[in-house]
Amino acid sequence: MSNQLRDLFDNNRRWAAATEAREPGFFTRLAQQQSPRYMWIGCADSRVPANEITGLDPGEVFVHRNVANVVVHSDLNALSTIQFAVEHLKVEHIMVVGHYGCAGVRAAMRGIRVGLADNWLRHVHDVRLRHRRRLDHLPPAQQEDILCEMNVIEQVGNVALSTIVQDAWARGQPLCVHGWVYGLKDGLLKNLEVTMDRPESVVGVFSAALKRYPRHAAAGSEAEGDAYHEADTVVGGGTLHS
Ligand code: CO
Repeated sequence: MSNQLRDLFDNNRRWAAATEAREPGFFTRLAQQQSPRYMWIGCADSRVPANEITGLDPGEVFVHRNVANVVVHSDLNALSTIQFAVEHLKVEHIMVVGHYGCAGVRAAMRGIRVGLADNWLRHVHDVRLRHRRRLDHLPPAQQEDILCEMNVIEQVGNVALSTIVQDAWARGQPLCVHGWVYGLKDGLLKNLEVTMDRPESVVGVFSAALKRYPRHAAAGSEAEGDAYHEADTVVGGGTLHS
């Protein structure tokens, strides 16, 4: 084994010993059952580790990560993870956590080709297209930050509209979906205030969030729609994009 990898095992033994010394029985207890209250859906970026950022121990947060923290309705990997978290672990909070300086978001924003992942990032590109009139008038650096935020808001909507979350709410199970963004430069989390906690909250929270990103004054009023990119999405009697 290379020295580099041997270091990881050495680190691991030290960590396990220190954890057990700090809290005797920690691993025995965790081995029997996990009961996290939180599910974290974040970017795969190595600089955004869910547990460290939130000061949570193993066993306290159930994590799903992918490139650019995207949740789409046909992704069985994400949906299966959400289903397990909601129906079996009964988590009370799902947070979609994006981060500023996300390479995936930057590629989607600038149209940079990266390879196979272009197809995955097309989902983020679609978010950019849908909200281009709220983005295009901003300076480039700000456009990327705002797209990071808008991508989170869209994914919060996708989680809330998934059959899993809709069914949980229909059963009366307490479950909140949140949207946060993490700053690589300061290590701080920002709450985007898009918490959805029941079916009726989805459309209102989504619309209110979008209004925080004004279109350019010359681009028309809020009420003006776009035939394709801001077309209404009908959702259980409500609409997401207006
Ligand atoms: Co990222």
